[in-house]
Amino acid sequence: MTDGAPGNAVVLQSVSREYVEGDVAVVALKDVSMTIPRGRFSMLVGPSGSGKTTLLNIIGCIDQQTSGHVEVCGHDIKALSDNRVADFRAENIGFIFQGFNLLPVLTAQENVEYALLLLGFSASERQSRARAMLSRVGLGDHLHHRPNQLSGGQKQRVAIARALAKDPEIVLADEPTANLDSETGRQIIDLMRTMQREFHTSFIFSTHDPQLISEADETYRIRDGIVVERSVKELVA
Ligand SMILES: Nc1ncnc2c1ncn2[C@@H]1O[C@H](COP(=O)(O)OP(=O)(O)OP(=O)(O)O)[C@@H](O)[C@H]1O
Ligand SMILES: [Mg+2]
Repeated sequence: MTDGAPGNAVVLQSVSREYVEGDVAVVALKDVSMTIPRGRFSMLVGPSGSGKTTLLNIIGCIDQQTSGHVEVCGHDIKALSDNRVADFRAENIGFIFQGFNLLPVLTAQENVEYALLLLGFSASERQSRARAMLSRVGLGDHLHHRPNQLSGGQKQRVAIARALAKDPEIVLADEPTANLDSETGRQIIDLMRTMQREFHTSFIFSTHDPQLISEADETYRIRDGIVVERSVKELVA
């Protein structure tokens, strides 16, 4: 994190994303305006095809809007050069995916270290950060296991350690509990909540999981590329 100041993780103004395939245009996001505050559990919920992943990809600087304005951690992403976008993403944004997306030939520790490669840490620093974060998520005894030697919940713990090892401003999690049974999902949700509080990270989820949605500080309902409702849980001081 660059600072713990209040403010917004994400500001979108009239954001649209259109995909054109041949003669057919699909409008995945239509004129979306939203402000996501820092340091919260924010959830994008809506039916399949409603635009959740498209929105996460734009916030994560993996994709760009067709029109409109996108600000992430106070930066206008369209104004950055491609190299700066890659650096910005590496420094500020961690990703957690439904399918874990670990590199199969690397151990748990190497998977976490790999995410730190772009950031200029020394090899020993990468190693100590990866070990510390894997211990923090309960995998101190599994540093040298490869993904195929880990359970689904353990793989998602590695992915959480990988996302947080660089201490990013924002973690984007696309249906992070969809491939887990309900008890393991519960444990992973509790772990993400604990980590969010400890590191003051902004977590932004796409999800259908009622267990995860019940933990939301705020929920954005999306239908056909439009944010139709925002509901906010009252914060207890
Ligand atoms: N690369 C692409 N090329 C063309 N159309 C796309 C592309 N990515 C997404 N779309 C379309 O954009 C719309 C929104 O897709 P998106 O993946 O954002 O939905 P989603 O809400 O994440 O759905 P799910 O819950 O199934 O993951 C869909 O109509 C989809 O077919
Ligand atoms: Mg999706």
